[in-house]
Amino acid sequence: MTRPRSFALRVNGVDRTVTAASDEPLLWVLRDQLKLTGTKFGCGEGECGACSVLVNGEVYRSCMVAVGDLSPGDEIVTIEGLGQPGRLSRLQQAFVDHTAFGCGFCTPGMIVTAESLLRSTPHPTRDEIVRAMDDNLCRCASYPAIVEAIAEVAGDDSTGEG
Ligand code: FES
Repeated sequence: MTRPRSFALRVNGVDRTVTAASDEPLLWVLRDQLKLTGTKFGCGEGECGACSVLVNGEVYRSCMVAVGDLSPGDEIVTIEGLGQPGRLSRLQQAFVDHTAFGCGFCTPGMIVTAESLLRSTPHPTRDEIVRAMDDNLCRCASYPAIVEAIAEVAGDDSTGEG
């Protein structure tokens, strides 16, 4: 661990300052300092996807990203940053509607990963959905419902906000 210092981060559209060692994983800064506990700790080795967040629209495993490797202008989005206050995003709502979870532990990482897919590919095929979600693990094996939820949003041409 290096000596703690201040870092300016932009998280869910808000400028935040945290104090951390530069090699501290972003996951722990989000959970312990910013209390954004929707981002989960699963494996801690980049293998499960439970800790997935968006950095500049790309999916990152926050357990593998050192806070010192981020730039002040990087836009970090966690599961709490999707949707609007008091209103789920279409993707979040679709997961609810399809009961696309068992215990729910993997769900934030699943939704964040699917969000990235739909931002880059608004109407993916089912094969593209399966491929994009392939590295996110669900121990309850809710995969069919997860694909259904994402496919519903992918085929939804309504113009409601994400
Ligand atoms: Fe980061 Fe599993 S906790 S990938």
